[in-house]
Amino acid sequence: MIKETETIKDLDLKEVMKEYDNLFDLVPCLITVHDRDYRIIKYNKEFKDKFAPEPGTFCYEAYKDRKRKCENCPVEKTFKDGKSHYSEEKGVNKNNSTTYWIAKTAPIKNSKGEIVAAVEMNLDITPSKQLEEQLKQSEERYFSIFNNIPNPLFVLDYETLVIIDCNISATAAYQYTRDNLIGRSFLDLFNADEREIFFTKIRSLSFIDKVKQATKQGRNIYVDMWISAYKYPEKKVLLVASTDITRRLETEQQLIQASKMATLGVMASGVAHELNQPLSVIKTASGFLLKKQRKQEPIDDATLDTLISKMDCNVDRASNIINHMRQFARKSNMELELVQPNDILKNAFDLFSQQLKVREIELVWEQEQRLPEVIADPGQLEQVFINFLVNSRDAIEEKRDGLGIKEGSDAIRIYTRSNEENVIIEIIDTGIGISAEISDKIFEPFFTTKGVGKGTGLGLSISYSFIEEIGGSIEVRPSAENKGAFFTISIPRADRIMKNQGGR
Ligand SMILES: Nc1ncnc2c1ncn2[C@@H]1O[C@H](COP(=O)(O)OP(=O)(O)OP(=O)(O)O)[C@@H](O)[C@H]1O
Ligand SMILES: [Mg+2]
Repeated sequence: MIKETETIKDLDLKEVMKEYDNLFDLVPCLITVHDRDYRIIKYNKEFKDKFAPEPGTFCYEAYKDRKRKCENCPVEKTFKDGKSHYSEEKGVNKNNSTTYWIAKTAPIKNSKGEIVAAVEMNLDITPSKQLEEQLKQSEERYFSIFNNIPNPLFVLDYETLVIIDCNISATAAYQYTRDNLIGRSFLDLFNADEREIFFTKIRSLSFIDKVKQATKQGRNIYVDMWISAYKYPEKKVLLVASTDITRRLETEQQLIQASKMATLGVMASGVAHELNQPLSVIKTASGFLLKKQRKQEPIDDATLDTLISKMDCNVDRASNIINHMRQFARKSNMELELVQPNDILKNAFDLFSQQLKVREIELVWEQEQRLPEVIADPGQLEQVFINFLVNSRDAIEEKRDGLGIKEGSDAIRIYTRSNEENVIIEIIDTGIGISAEISDKIFEPFFTTKGVGKGTGLGLSISYSFIEEIGGSIEVRPSAENKGAFFTISIPRADRIMKNQGGR
């Protein structure tokens, strides 16, 4: 009876052992059992398939093809302290590919509690390691692109506009170190009085042009700025890319200045004539006084008063003309302000009327009283009007030269009016006219039909960019030969612009 029971127990044990061996073999990870000399004394099927070990091979030989024990060996630690240890390992396969795994060890004790072996279990983490590696490479790639883009790039906190990150170009353009920029408000790069307005603009617009900023040394630079919002881990950020356009603007300014100087040259003879008038009044009065003084003849008080007042007010007139010329010649500082186009037109006429008078060209000006104001640089706007007046004068002269006679009366007519959106200025003359063929070329830089030394072809192209910059337009209506030119300038009304900005 008893014998029979033992046989059943033996059978059960065998079954359990077989089951255990099976499990050991089929577990989907590498399992090895090591003795104290780091020899592998047992291993499962996965290990056998992967490393095909010789009998009695050392673990470091089998796993890593090494000649000596690894530096940081978890098996060694387990033999030492009887505890379980963990490490991340890397090995070269038979086919030369690399496998990454996590190794975990545990002691195997005999019935007396002595550690006789250590079991090591390895889980293959190669796919996730490869992903990690790819992610790292992609991050490095992104970082290198971000850093090597030639334009300054900033990542800003959407709420505060504090700089979270910036690239090398940003440090070069603004002359700060990266550490100086990160953590600083982006608004520090603007002039103090404009920070508030840019706080709103940066958070609401995607493009801002000709932004004035300052470098660390306080030097002003002008940039065009592109802004896009996106989500950084856990917070909304703005990516700001800027392009330094200071050089371009300086060159444009030099070109504008050159064209202005050419216009001044054209007007010089007219202005000289204009100056002659007050000078001759002063000369007459002073000559009269001198004669009286030399002859020791008395002058009555009333005459003396009239003469001195005449001299005084003609000195004022002469200095007004000179001041106006000076102002016109001054370099524009590109500042926009509220201006009344009628006033600017009057300035242009004052400078130019003598030119037209001597050439018998009538100037007709019909202005809308209380014309709405516009936002512009007054100096630039005056330059636009003078460009048109010079062109009309030349066109009338060209017509006269072509016809060989002066036929009828010539005039330049200027009308100012407004509609709901714009102030409109029409400039019409009785000159040579503008044919359909050249009407789409006249705004191109350096297009001129005037002889060498007479025109540079810059007047209309500069005028076009001025007006376009303030949101307006210039149009020309083509005409038949000698039928005169018809230009329309539209400029947005200041009250409209302010209303639209307020509503945004
Ligand atoms: N009122 C006009 N009537 C006829 N043609 C005109 C008139 N205004 C401009 N044009 C034509 O357009 C061309 C370009 O004008 P624009 O003012 O740009 O240059 P420009 O007068 O030739 O030279 P600049 O103004 O630089 O001295 C002129 O050469 C002329 O052919
Ligand atoms: Mg011109």
